[in-house]
Amino acid sequence: MSHIIAPSVLSADFSNLEKDIKMLDKSQAEWIHFDVMDGVFVPNISFGFPILKATRKHTSKFIDVHLMMVNPEKYIEQFKNAGADGISVHYEGNIHILSILNQIRACGAKAGLVLNPATPISVIKDIIHSIDTLLIMSVNPGFGGQKFIPNTINRIKEAKEIIKKTGAKTIIEVDGGVGPSNAKEVIDAGADVLVAGSAVFNTENPSETISRLKNIS
Ligand code: DX5
Ligand code: ZN
Repeated sequence: MSHIIAPSVLSADFSNLEKDIKMLDKSQAEWIHFDVMDGVFVPNISFGFPILKATRKHTSKFIDVHLMMVNPEKYIEQFKNAGADGISVHYEGNIHILSILNQIRACGAKAGLVLNPATPISVIKDIIHSIDTLLIMSVNPGFGGQKFIPNTINRIKEAKEIIKKTGAKTIIEVDGGVGPSNAKEVIDAGADVLVAGSAVFNTENPSETISRLKNIS
C-alpha cells in the first residue's frame, strides 16, 4: 500500500475552516487528522464536537480523531456520531486500554492506539490484533510545530517487526514534526500514514505540499 497523508486540522485557519476543509477534500490527502486536547492530559486545549461536525459537513474523507484527553471512554460514541471514522486513544493513563479499543470497534470506528515517545513499543505485543492503527508520537503531544524526535525511526522499525511477526493488519501512523525533509525516512522505516500539520498549512500552497508528500517514494 502506498502511504497515506493525514493533514492536521490543528494548523488550519479557523476563521475560514470551510475553505481549508474543502481544500483538503480536493487534495491528495486520504485522511484528515483531528487533534482533541483537553488541557488536562496535555497542557493545551484545542477543539471538540462542534468543530468535528463542521469538518464532517465539508468532506467525505476519512476523519482520524486523536484524543489527547482523560477518560476518553466516556466520549467514544459521541465522537463517532459527530463524524469520526477512526478514533485513537493514548496507552498512557488508560488502565483498561483493551476495553476502550474494543469499545471503539464496537461503535463502528477504526481503533487506534497512541504511544508517547517514552512508552516502550513492546506494550503493543499482547493487544496487537485489537489495534487497527498504531499512532507513534514523534513529538510530545500538545502542540503543533515541534521538532521530530529522531529516535522515532527506531521505534517505527520495532513496531513494524512486531506487526510482521504476529501477522496483524495494524497500520503505522506517525505524528509530529513530519514534513518534506524527513518524510522519506519515516516511510522507509515502515510508516503507512503521515500526519502533517505545520508542514502543510504553513506553506504557500498546502495542496501542492500534500501532493509532494504523497508522491515521495
Ligand atoms: C501534536 C498533535 C499533532 C500536531 C502535529 O500533539 O498530535 O497531530 O497537529 O503538528 P505538526 O505536524 O506541526 O508537528
Ligand atoms: Zn495528532
